[in-house]
Amino acid sequence: MRLILLGAPGAGKGTQANFIKEKYNIPQISTGDMLRAAIKAGTELGIAAKKIMDAGGLVSDDIMIGLVKNRLKDADCANGYLFDGFPRTVAQADAMKDSGIHVDYVLEIDVPDASIVERMDGRRTHPASGRSYHVKFNPPKVEGVDDVTGEALIQRDDDKAETVKKRLEVFHNQTEVLLGYYNDWAKSGTPGAPKYRRISGVGPVEQIRDSAFAALAE
Ligand code: AP5
Ligand code: ZN
Repeated sequence: MRLILLGAPGAGKGTQANFIKEKYNIPQISTGDMLRAAIKAGTELGIAAKKIMDAGGLVSDDIMIGLVKNRLKDADCANGYLFDGFPRTVAQADAMKDSGIHVDYVLEIDVPDASIVERMDGRRTHPASGRSYHVKFNPPKVEGVDDVTGEALIQRDDDKAETVKKRLEVFHNQTEVLLGYYNDWAKSGTPGAPKYRRISGVGPVEQIRDSAFAALAE
């Protein structure tokens, strides 16, 4: 299984990626998690990316495309992969296509902007794994603690209301166009075109998981 999860910031890409990667036993390639790991490691990329991410902007296409291509060389990508947060621009999508990085499915998770700010506000993240929870909608078993490792949860720096607003703006201006890009490609029926599936991301997490599994089985 090779797929792309498309959706606004806070649509639940990371939450659903967790279920999908386990079911299909594939790695989750989250470009956001990769950048946060670079920030934590204090690399040059991390230092540059932090400023951009905290402002809600996008890291340059060249850097992101390079990061992803490198990641795909790893042995664990041989039998499939799940992209979470990539591609995010037409240039990134074109680069994937031109490099022959194939996907079987593009799964869009649709959540209206109105729900997003509340989701981000209550999000708590386990930095090492990228797992995320929500204080109200998806709480961890023990408050403030990751279910799997027992380590402390944090709030992401870019989850401030003002940054979330900017991230949503960037999504609408630069990423939303990819919904049509992939939908049109899927409809064209050209060889190598992915299947396009759209599910609602509003409702209980497990209900959305079941819709995602059903969409990927069609
Ligand atoms: P990234 O980490 O990719 O952030 P994002 O796309 O903005 O998405 P999020 O991680 O915020 O949301 P999500 O959809 O994963 O939702 P989640 O499951 O956590 O990117 C961060 C930054 O890195 C970017 O702004 C950019 O600067 C840079 N970057 C990354 N990739 C890049 C690229 N390719 N090119 C350029 N720059 C790039 O859920 C959110 C919350 O909602 C959680 O609290 C969760 O528990 C809760 N929740 C989930 N499902 C539900 C539900 N059904 N009901 C209620 N609450 C729910
Ligand atoms: Zn995420």
